[in-house]
Amino acid sequence: MEELEKLHDEIKKCSKCPLHKGRIQAVPGDGNPKADVFFIGEGPGAEEDKQGKPFVGAAGKFLDVMLTEIGWKRDDVFIGNIVKCRPPDNRDPLPEEIDTCCSYLEAQLEIIKPKIIVLLGRHAMYRFLPSDFKISKEHGKVFHRQNKFLVPLYHPAAALYHASLRQTLIDDFKRLPKIIEKVKEMSD
Ligand code: URA
Repeated sequence: MEELEKLHDEIKKCSKCPLHKGRIQAVPGDGNPKADVFFIGEGPGAEEDKQGKPFVGAAGKFLDVMLTEIGWKRDDVFIGNIVKCRPPDNRDPLPEEIDTCCSYLEAQLEIIKPKIIVLLGRHAMYRFLPSDFKISKEHGKVFHRQNKFLVPLYHPAAALYHASLRQTLIDDFKRLPKIIEKVKEMSD
């Protein structure tokens, strides 16, 4: 716990990439430091930048609904992002920003040691899985890479903008409790 707090204090002071210049505050991530499930999004938006917490805007509200539907609370899981500071005008994070920031994500994963990592959207997916993967094909599947169980899903924001993806994401979410059960059985 202390170790994670120390890391988050460091993230809050970070000025390693230009994104720090436009932020109100960094958003290190939030949730249970002993979580079995770590959700990784893309980066903070305007509301996250204001509140210093991940997924508290429109996409976050949808994420909350899906968590509630499967009987999970935010306090049960950990929620973080590929980059910890808001990219200007919500543009995609640049590869060099991702490379610089991801040492923090790796440190969080090292401390929390989740049983599964849920990759929300393509930016999170490409950090861990091959660049020729298509989220439209791989969403909801479980991959085992470098001793980590990875589940790429559509990003909740994509499901808000494209109604057709909404039910797919809800259905994928509903499979998460079974996936975690299976992974736990395998590691027992
Ligand atoms: N979208 C993300 O990817 N992360 C957030 O924290 C909020 C919205």
